[in-house]
Order: sequence, then C-alpha cells, then structure tokens
Amino acid sequence: MKKLIMCAGLLLLPMLSNAQEQRSDDYVEYRQAAFNAMGWHFKKMGAMIQGRIPYDAAEFKRRATAVSVLSKLPGEGFIDETKNTELPTRLKSEMWYQQERFDQYMQNLIKATAELASKAGAEDKDDLRSTYGNTARQCKSCHDRFRESS
Ligand code: HEC
Repeated sequence: MKKLIMCAGLLLLPMLSNAQEQRSDDYVEYRQAAFNAMGWHFKKMGAMIQGRIPYDAAEFKRRATAVSVLSKLPGEGFIDETKNTELPTRLKSEMWYQQERFDQYMQNLIKATAELASKAGAEDKDDLRSTYGNTARQCKSCHDRFRESS
C-alpha cells in the first residue's frame, strides 16, 4: 500500500511542476494582454485628439473609462516568478531591482488615466489635449526606462 501511494505521488510530481511553469507564463501573457487592450483604446483616443479620425465625445469617454480601468490591471503580472520566462517579453531586467520606481510609474499612470476619464465627455476636444498629453507622458516615461525598444 505504501508503495502504491509513493508511486501515485511520483506520477503527480511532473504534473504539478508543469502547472507551476504554466502559471508564471500566464502572468506574462496576462500583463501583455492588459497592455495591448489599453493601447488599443489609447491609440484611438490619440487619433481623435490629433484629428486623424472625427472626434466623438461619447466614444472618447467610453475609451478613456476603459483605459482607466485597464491601467490597474498589468501590475499584477509582474511577479518574481516571471523573471526567467522564455516567452518573448520587452520588460528590461533592471525592473527587478528598481521595483519601487516601477510601481511609482504605475501609480502615476493610474492617477493620470483617472483624471482623463473624469475630464472626458468634454464637447471641445482641445479641453482634453493637455490631460491626454500628460497621460501619454506617463506611458513614455515608463517605456523609456523599463521597456526594451523594438
Ligand atoms: C509602469 C510602466 C509602464 C507604464 C506606465 C505603461 N507601460 Fe506599456 N508596457 C510596459 C512594459 C514593461 C511592457 C512590456 C511587457 C512585456 O513584454 O512583458 C509594456 C508593453 C506595452 C504594450 C504591449 C506591446 C509592446 O509594445 O510590448 C502596449 C501596447 C503598451 N505597453 C502600451 C502602453 C500605453 C498606451 C500606456 C499608457 C496609457 C502604457 N503602456 C504605460 C510598461 C509600462
């Protein structure tokens, strides 16, 4: 009986370690998906601000609200277990010893997108230009420091 239990345990081991590996890769895919969704909406808002597509206050508001919610998501995907992922990632390894600064950039982003969402809905898009610009600067600051250029 003891032998049987041991055998069962040994059989389970590889399954468990496999699940673990998959788990940390899930975090990498998750954070990239969250950033991609955020980028999707943010780009369309930029096109409106720049006049490349017509400005629609309600659509802008809907997208700004989405970006504000989405900005709170990717942070969860930067767990230590993802340090040695073999998935393609643009995260610079510096982040792992400058996590406080990274978190600060994340907080700045959350703050800026909340402000943009609350201002969105304005009839005149020029009233949104500087708030949009301030949010874009938060993206850029973090990307310049922590995202590998492609
Ligand atoms: C706190 C840092 C930080 C902030 C702020 C930030 N990003 Fe990123 N972003 C990253 C990192 C790091 C990656 C790469 C993640 C990976 O590959 O694992 C990334 C990836 C992305 C991607 C996925 C595609 C690619 O180029 O890798 C998009 C799209 C993106 N960011 C858009 C934005 C937009 C838009 C904003 C602002 C509204 C923003 N990000 C703000 C750090 C940040």
